[in-house]
Amino acid sequence: MGDFFDVDDARSRLTEQIAFYDETILTPGDAGAQGELRRVEEYFAGQTLSGDVLEIACGTGFWTGRLLDRATTLTAVDASARRLRLCADRLGGDPRLELVHADVFDWTPDSTYDAIFLGFWLSHVPGRLLGEFLGRLRKWLRAGGVVHLVDHKAGATGETVLGGEMVRRIGDSGRSYRVVKAQYDRAGLEQRIHRLGWSAVLRETPEHFLFGSLTDGAGAPAGDPVREADV
Ligand SMILES: C[S@@+](CC[C@H](N)C(=O)[O-])C[C@H]1O[C@@H](n2cnc3c(N)ncnc32)[C@H](O)[C@@H]1O
Repeated sequence: MGDFFDVDDARSRLTEQIAFYDETILTPGDAGAQGELRRVEEYFAGQTLSGDVLEIACGTGFWTGRLLDRATTLTAVDASARRLRLCADRLGGDPRLELVHADVFDWTPDSTYDAIFLGFWLSHVPGRLLGEFLGRLRKWLRAGGVVHLVDHKAGATGETVLGGEMVRRIGDSGRSYRVVKAQYDRAGLEQRIHRLGWSAVLRETPEHFLFGSLTDGAGAPAGDPVREADV
């Protein structure tokens, strides 16, 4: 049994995670895996990312700029005001981009989307909340819509998992934080996603990343999120 025995506890851990990311600025390009990252970008270049797109946990905008090249409109949400300011410095001023400061677990969009992008985000969703989270995305997607994701493979960040999916990270101030970092291998994540009612084809690079696309596979009905206990 992991640390996320109860959902309220999971949410309080998410608060600590938000504080870490507000204080500490890293981007995927810092990971020392540029070659593998290029393979991921090539994959997304071949995917449908047009129309109205939602990006969850956009951070400083590493993916945001790439998405904006192709989207008609882009709504990008993040819980860190500091990261959003950096994102706005890079990309603000484009009338097609809406930056939203919100905790995605407490936020509901007032629109639906053709595509939703999760860049290094799903591993920060406690496993116990994964079904609920994907159930919410299902409601935010238009018919035929697609969720695209890229994340770290299990072990790729070299961090010691403390238990209950938590890793300890040191923020830029030197303060220690516990951050959710679920460790997924490609087949395991694909299987869990399938059991939550989605179709998914995931790929992986040799060392660092897993990535791919999900469509609603008519499994669990909308409005009836599947909890971890059901998976
Ligand atoms: C690993 S970073 C990924 C950032 C960006 N997608 C990228 O690939 O560079 C995780 C992001 O999630 C954001 N975040 C953490 N908790 C969040 C929450 N509850 N709601 C929205 N964003 C959150 C952090 O502020 C951070 O920008």
